[in-house]
Amino acid sequence: MSKINKKNNFTYSVSGDNLEDDFTSSIDIDKQMYEEDIRGSIAHTQMLAKQQIITKKDKEKIISGLLAIKKEILSNKFEWKSSLEDIHMNIESRLYDHIGEIAGKLHTARSRNDQVATDVRMWTKKICVQIISKITELQSSFVKIAEKNIDTILPGYTHMQKGQPISLAHHFLAYYEMLKRDLNRFQQVYSSADVMILGSGALSGVNYPVDREWLAKELDFSKISNNSMDGVSDRDFIVEFINACSLVMTHLSRFSEEIIIWSSEEFQFIKISDKFSTGSSMMPQKRNPDYAELVRGKIGSVFGSLFGMYTILKGLPLTYNRDLQEDKKHLFESAATTIKCLDVTDGIIQNIKINKDTMLSSAKNSFILATDIADYLVKKGIPFRESYVIISNLTKELTKKNIMISELTINDYKKYSQYFEEDILNLSLETAIESKNSIGGTAKKIVEKALNQAKKEIKITTDQYEKN
Ligand code: ARG
Repeated sequence: MSKINKKNNFTYSVSGDNLEDDFTSSIDIDKQMYEEDIRGSIAHTQMLAKQQIITKKDKEKIISGLLAIKKEILSNKFEWKSSLEDIHMNIESRLYDHIGEIAGKLHTARSRNDQVATDVRMWTKKICVQIISKITELQSSFVKIAEKNIDTILPGYTHMQKGQPISLAHHFLAYYEMLKRDLNRFQQVYSSADVMILGSGALSGVNYPVDREWLAKELDFSKISNNSMDGVSDRDFIVEFINACSLVMTHLSRFSEEIIIWSSEEFQFIKISDKFSTGSSMMPQKRNPDYAELVRGKIGSVFGSLFGMYTILKGLPLTYNRDLQEDKKHLFESAATTIKCLDVTDGIIQNIKINKDTMLSSAKNSFILATDIADYLVKKGIPFRESYVIISNLTKELTKKNIMISELTINDYKKYSQYFEEDILNLSLETAIESKNSIGGTAKKIVEKALNQAKKEIKITTDQYEKN
């Protein structure tokens, strides 16, 4: 058995001075919610006074204390204490320093259980709006680059084998569509989070005549929870949020994978700007697509958070259990990673260089028109299954002889089928693309329509969120 080398004995320090506090405190994580916590407390105080649960004088003192604390936090003068469990306790404790015993009235008709549930919903709504606007920016970048590449031709792939010619605009607009679904998902998450919980108390409601409707209005919630027990323990919206993050990250990772392949020496379809690539420490000739690789890799932690969150909730009895404190780590980290990856992807696209010629010659040096030739024979009356076999034989023979389709004369064609006429020679990458004019196809006029539609949709979202 090998012995531990005492000389190199290294202890990884995971706890601070006090294991108990360190283990139970979440302040390092939930201090991000200070704004929501103070806003919620101010609204709660106003409601307590309005309902004559506390006096107007007390209300004013409490609110001025809370505003003073907010200033301290904003100017980095607030001393965060991990001996106090969380953001709520840190702020409440500091309130005593500012206004004395009256601070104790803030927590009337409220538990940290309904407080934290309300705070985290406010935070989630705020971040949903931010992510929606980032997604819209990224969609705009896809639309802009698509507009510049309506006439750029490249092979479209299935199974990573060249399949049919497409316009690069059509390819980029596929990502626009994915992001549109992502955007809708974050709108749905916003709506799930948009439920006011205060007034649920610890679990069963409160012994005071609270005005929950007023609180909801004051805190910009469109709904209030129907059941106090569900209210304090529901974290479904966090699962939904991380799921929405996971899907947008999935789309970003697919795009990353494509541009990593496209920027390889084998493909050379694009060049990723130096800003978004790095050199190798050993191989001087290399530029590595690290940023795209990191976007592709960072998805791991978001998926991890999704399962982390499901695992926390699974089997949890009603109502609040301390397990729920672990929710914010997953929520905050997923949000931060998603926002960063949206920004990086946007930066990559805005600075990408497209090698149109390489894309075109890749499409030319292939049998990418085979389906169109088969369809040509179908239009002349041959059943598709039959024309498929004819063209399959044709491509096999040409491959053997190392001849491209574009080199064929009409007589060559006629050897395969008498139905071929002179007009087969008009078939080109361009005409093949133009004839894909069914709704959603790659034909120029369809792509232009899609572009206009996308621009309209982006404007609608932008206007909607600017108003808020
Ligand atoms: N720090 C707690 C959390 O984030 C706040 C709620 C605490 N409630 C309690 N009963 N300990 O979940």
